[in-house]
Amino acid sequence: MSGHGLLDGKTGIIFGALTESSIAWHIAEACDREGAAFALSNAPVARRLGNMDALAEKTGSPVIWADATSDDDLADLYETVEEEYGTIDFIVHSIGMGVNVRKDQPYEDLNYNWYQQTLDISAISLHRIVHHALESDALNDGGSILSLSYIGAQRIFSKYSEMGDAKALLESITRSFGYRLGKRDIRINAISQSPTKTTAGSGIEGFDAMYEFAEKVSPLGNASAESCADYAVTLLSDLTRMVTMQILYHDGGFSSMGISDEIVEAMKDSFADDADDEENDA
Ligand code: NAI
Repeated sequence: MSGHGLLDGKTGIIFGALTESSIAWHIAEACDREGAAFALSNAPVARRLGNMDALAEKTGSPVIWADATSDDDLADLYETVEEEYGTIDFIVHSIGMGVNVRKDQPYEDLNYNWYQQTLDISAISLHRIVHHALESDALNDGGSILSLSYIGAQRIFSKYSEMGDAKALLESITRSFGYRLGKRDIRINAISQSPTKTTAGSGIEGFDAMYEFAEKVSPLGNASAESCADYAVTLLSDLTRMVTMQILYHDGGFSSMGISDEIVEAMKDSFADDADDEENDA
């Protein structure tokens, strides 16, 4: 897609680009295409695990390594942002990790230290990032803040486990800050995205089933990371200046569906297989 200059003259910071598959990676590429200048940030450990430096080179962006659960790191981060850009117009929070989920610890038996880490990394980090932006006076009036959520915040997807709680908190923080930022015309929204094949996504047991189920239920199919990035651009642009405190489904229609013909057919096939098995057993 060619750019439309939707973010010409805007500056920002994008958290969470790890690899080429990361949603934040695609958002950074789309912001670059639309004329924005931005810094990239990720946890120091991501330097070893990913290749964000390549993205920084491609988009001509400075990199600021910061653990989004650390107040000291975030205070330092905004000092560097100020040196680079003065003040900024947008923040993208694309950070998440479910520690119990990764370690296969079931919801009924959560390790509470890991649970706290999950909430800290995946949700409270949004609060910290906004808090430090305000405290350092980094964000311009009329700015836009965006994070990434999942429908597991509202409905139970059995394998999503503690991450459903983390996303519910993230969405609540979005509303709580939205009220307070309104007096400066700053917007804050979350995109609730389809299952997407990324490092965070594939860390969830049963992810392939969640992905295929959503693909078969959604009238438009699953939304890709590229299309998510295009949607993100609109939310960072002035075109959506009156949209705030919203959880915006970017999911090919999944959130409005119950069952689709494809799932009905798949269930029929599975009933037929069960009947065959029973006959063979008899
Ligand atoms: P990803 O693994 O590429 O991105 C997650 C990022 O969080 C990584 O860059 C990682 O280094 C960063 N991170 C983890 N701990 C951190 C910390 N302490 N400080 C700073 N950064 C830290 O995966 P993806 O899928 O691009 O995730 C981005 C966002 O999209 C997350 O909020 C995720 O929950 C959300 N999302 C993902 C979906 C999916 O199916 N992949 C679906 C809906 C939402």
